[in-house]
Amino acid sequence: MPDDTHETRIPASCPASISEILNHAWNHNLASLKPLLSVPGRASVQEPTTGETPLHAAIRSCGPQTQGNDEANSKQTVTVDIKAAQAVVQELFLSGAIWNDVDSNNETPGCVAARLGQEELYNMCVGAGMRAELLFGLLDGYEALESDVEDEEEEDENGSAAAEESTEDQKDAPEDIILESDPDRAFSPPQAGDTVTSAAYLRANLTYTDGKLVDDEQNGVMMAWETSIMRASVDALLPGLPAGKRILNIGFGMGIIDTMFRDTQPSRHHIIEAHPEVLKHVETSADCKFGKDWESNGPAEGAYKIHAGKWQEVVPKLLEEGELYDAIYFDTFGEDYGQLRMFFTEYVPALLDEGGIFGFFNGLGADRKVCYDVYTKVVEMHLTDAGLDIEWNELDVDMEGLGEEGKGEWQGVKRRYWTLDKYQLPIITLMG
Ligand SMILES: C[S@@+](CC[C@H](N)C(=O)[O-])C[C@H]1O[C@@H](n2cnc3c(N)ncnc32)[C@H](O)[C@@H]1O
Repeated sequence: MPDDTHETRIPASCPASISEILNHAWNHNLASLKPLLSVPGRASVQEPTTGETPLHAAIRSCGPQTQGNDEANSKQTVTVDIKAAQAVVQELFLSGAIWNDVDSNNETPGCVAARLGQEELYNMCVGAGMRAELLFGLLDGYEALESDVEDEEEEDENGSAAAEESTEDQKDAPEDIILESDPDRAFSPPQAGDTVTSAAYLRANLTYTDGKLVDDEQNGVMMAWETSIMRASVDALLPGLPAGKRILNIGFGMGIIDTMFRDTQPSRHHIIEAHPEVLKHVETSADCKFGKDWESNGPAEGAYKIHAGKWQEVVPKLLEEGELYDAIYFDTFGEDYGQLRMFFTEYVPALLDEGGIFGFFNGLGADRKVCYDVYTKVVEMHLTDAGLDIEWNELDVDMEGLGEEGKGEWQGVKRRYWTLDKYQLPIITLMG
């Protein structure tokens, strides 16, 4: 449990220009804080050794939400503190405070609020995160949407990886860039966290072992613990599991979801897979039941097929051929959120037949609850913009074996990309 005391978080060594702001935030002294925030960047100063920001300080000093015996008394104390804290947090956000800076405990202000059970403050962090990410999407999203294969390959030839994250990855702070050279933000976070780029992933060697598929840097591409999520996704995409449906799945991975789709006896089952080693596994592994025999045993020519290639290249061809589906699932690896957004904005409305359902693996920001909650809201707004309706089904995730980095299911996997005991399963339909 992190040490939340004032002397630990704002040590005596803290430069006066920073500690002054942090202390006013800690004490919820809005009157003294406000004038200091009129200088750009001051709402995001960081204690150089602990990474404490004014947001962390304002939230942390509230302590844990109490539910003591003397309810009337404790409620009153909490209400007074929380109202003052809320006013400070609001002022900080208005003055440009960054919602997802991490401190030396690898906690964002939202993580601190969640740990202390400070729900209102937590919700303020989620709201600020959503607004920041929507704005970032407006400023930069179009570049991401238009970034095509060539852009990506160009970056790759130059050996420099774009700041790209997987849909199974956490989105980091675009805002971090803004104040990078500010000496009052000299703190370096404990885990910078590498990101996987699509082009590098598609060139990597892959290993199928018991219960997981990893790349040559031990990034978990797909893991068997996700089976219950795949099961619930199939049940949601094909309510009642009727036979004869037309299905499109993007990303074969371990074939977990495709095996479930296949068991429903679809009339069409198309899979798109880009990685050469996954395709080789499909062809050569005795355990894999999606090879040539499966393709040739479909109810019609081309009804069961693995389309080799990136979905960005294959999907336009399927559209030209007039394919329509009752169920579409999207679960790739190494791609940024812009790609998922492009898929549901530009292609889902054209590929989904009336009454059809679209779903995707919702792992955005899943290594941190506050990021997951922010991205769930961001995706919802973007889906609505794209003319799609969304419902969320909350699932319990059995965390047995998933609780600790490098242990249990995560043994041999570089990064614990899932940390949450709840999964938000998206069920998406065309707006009526
Ligand atoms: C997380 S796995 C899918 C797991 C799958 N849902 C299952 O149940 O086993 C992601 C898959 O997407 C594939 N992939 C990544 N980028 C792709 C792209 N642009 N087009 C098609 N497939 C892609 C990867 O090679 C990998 O096989």
